[in-house]
Amino acid sequence: MGGRDSDLVLLDENGIRCDGRKVDETRNISIKAGVLKNANGSAYIEFGDNKILAGVFGPRDVHPKHMSDTDTGIIRCRYHMSPFSVTERKNPAPSRREIEIGKVIKEALRPAVMLEKFPRTAVDVYVEVLQADGGTRCAALDAASVALADAGIPMRDMVSACAAGKVADTIILDVNNEEDQAGQADMPIGYMPNLGKVTLLQLDGVLTPAEFKKCLETGIEGCKQVYEIQKQALKDKFFANGEQ
Ligand code: CDP
Repeated sequence: MGGRDSDLVLLDENGIRCDGRKVDETRNISIKAGVLKNANGSAYIEFGDNKILAGVFGPRDVHPKHMSDTDTGIIRCRYHMSPFSVTERKNPAPSRREIEIGKVIKEALRPAVMLEKFPRTAVDVYVEVLQADGGTRCAALDAASVALADAGIPMRDMVSACAAGKVADTIILDVNNEEDQAGQADMPIGYMPNLGKVTLLQLDGVLTPAEFKKCLETGIEGCKQVYEIQKQALKDKFFANGEQ
């Protein structure tokens, strides 16, 4: 947070953002389910200029065995950025940030997955960021949820994710990379739309209590829009003949 590029106009006099969007508009989002042959479930998402693949295996045996739980299944997640996903070549070795985001995605998915049905097993979620443009954790979570559903893993609900934030003292939906770097706040949200429960909430930046409330409400509206696209991706795969 904090204006690094002083020439960048984050919000113009007509309320239009640096990429031409209105304050309550998401970037273009498209999701395709079942894109990988060898994973049990998979999804590819384009969320603005983010391009992310998610692949899921499981429920399957846990290795190493001591990580298994006799009472329930476990979920694991690896979030990885490919070296060419950002302008400055990213070292392919896992960074602190990637380990943290893997943990965040895992914890955001866990309430949705019926792990108690599969004791001693693991569900493994692998996320590959091919191109990053701000908000990769939300886009990765969206793809991972669709990949879990594509794998046929029983779920209580989908997890839909979208960030909201603050630029030029205004609450905005779906923070892009420039807005993340130069704006005032970024709040990634994961939400189960049918259960009405938040599974991910982070905040980078400072908000007043009233702004916090508005930001959360704005982000949840974004999550609901994402949910429709996730559902459509699954329908497109499983009703390939046009049946809806
Ligand atoms: O991607 P997300 O907003 O969830 O996570 P972040 O840690 O807030 O990173 C924001 C953005 O910074 C990423 O989406 C990338 O576009 C960019 N980034 C980068 O350019 N180089 C990195 N090594 C890591 C992140």
